[in-house]
Amino acid sequence: MLKVALVVGTRPEAIKMAPIAIAIKKNRKMKPLLILTAQHRSMCDDVLDVFSLKPDYDLDIMKPRQSLFEVTARLARKLEPVLAGERPDIVLVQGDTTSTFMGSLCSYYLRIPVGHVEAGLRTYRKYSPFPEEINRKLTSAATDLHFAPTRVAKAALLKEGVRRDRVFVVGNPVIDALLHVAGKDYPFRNKDLASIDFNRTRVVAVTAHRRESWGRPFVSMMQALKQIGARHEDVLVVFPVHPNPNVRKPVERILGSARGVLLVDPLDYREFVKLLKSCCLIITDSGGIQEEAPSLKKPVLLMREVTERPEAVEAGAVKLVGTDTGKIVDACTKLLDSRQAYNKMIVRKNPYGDGKTSEKIVDIILKRLDSIERA
Ligand code: UD1
Ligand code: UDP
Repeated sequence: MLKVALVVGTRPEAIKMAPIAIAIKKNRKMKPLLILTAQHRSMCDDVLDVFSLKPDYDLDIMKPRQSLFEVTARLARKLEPVLAGERPDIVLVQGDTTSTFMGSLCSYYLRIPVGHVEAGLRTYRKYSPFPEEINRKLTSAATDLHFAPTRVAKAALLKEGVRRDRVFVVGNPVIDALLHVAGKDYPFRNKDLASIDFNRTRVVAVTAHRRESWGRPFVSMMQALKQIGARHEDVLVVFPVHPNPNVRKPVERILGSARGVLLVDPLDYREFVKLLKSCCLIITDSGGIQEEAPSLKKPVLLMREVTERPEAVEAGAVKLVGTDTGKIVDACTKLLDSRQAYNKMIVRKNPYGDGKTSEKIVDIILKRLDSIERA
């Protein structure tokens, strides 16, 4: 039996690793060891509940207002005894968070092979996204099996000198997760959401949290949302607000009593997917939502200057609008007013996969683990 550890820290890691943990459980030759760092507390717990997963270890590292330094130090201290004691055959990490990077670094220190899910995403801008661009590069350096979502991501890794026989294009497991919940209908638990008549109200779904936008760009984004809510009678901006106080404070200050804007707490994954399915368009700076939206046939306006996910932009499903108030409002108004502009952003095929990524990853681990050198 191969022991496959999965290190999970934040909401997007939990969503994208859940289908892989389920696929490992189903395989007779391997078993999962779920190590929850709980860099995010409530948001990770919500996701694990949705997928009926229980962590084998819960490192419980989240503290309110935690700094990058504190998270990094706590991860090193708490991951070492678990990884050293369990000595898994491979450690899987996902994406670009501090848990991802430290999961890979601590495994490397212990000479345990590392598999990186969603490998090879790059903007080549050191501070955008911050600190994710560098987390990704450092994780790649410690990785043995690179699970790239697309050919673009594979090409980036090869350009950096990663061995060709160690990179596998498998899609993104977020699509597996999405298909797991999208087919079923769940009621909104939030009363305000449950009372929306989606036939009469055009809902603009919003999320925002990126560190590189904090301060002026973030205020500019919030001003745009305020104008969008106020400008159209039949439009409601629905914004599940990330619990990070650096995000929550300016959101509440600028949008707390804004007309046509509904602020809610983070939604569990089923409810959030329901919101995405019911909305008319999405305005976000999230990574994962750029990947999910094409499957749900919803246009995305991306409030970032650059993206490490160029595939959806090239396909036409995501438009990069930056953080300038006027540009965001103009792009949104165009989509709300022009059926033609809207339809142009609905794509047939999702560039991030077909929902079979987890099975492919399990298969590759079984076939390729023996080829990894350990010393
Ligand atoms: C983290 C990741 C980021 C990822 C994002 C996804 C790092 C450095 N950042 O950013 O890459 O895109 O998650 O959401 O790894 N909090 C709660 N409850 C929760 C989660 C967070 O209260 O369930 C609050 C806490 O006050 C916590 C703060 O949010 O201290 C910040 O959490 P942290 O994980 O450090 O950063 P994020 O901005 O969430
Ligand atoms: N999401 C969720 N509830 C919410 C907002 C987002 O379940 O209230 C999901 C969303 O569908 C996507 C993921 O969380 O799969 C994105 O997480 P986040 O924006 O925190 O991180 P990023 O993708 O930017 O790394």
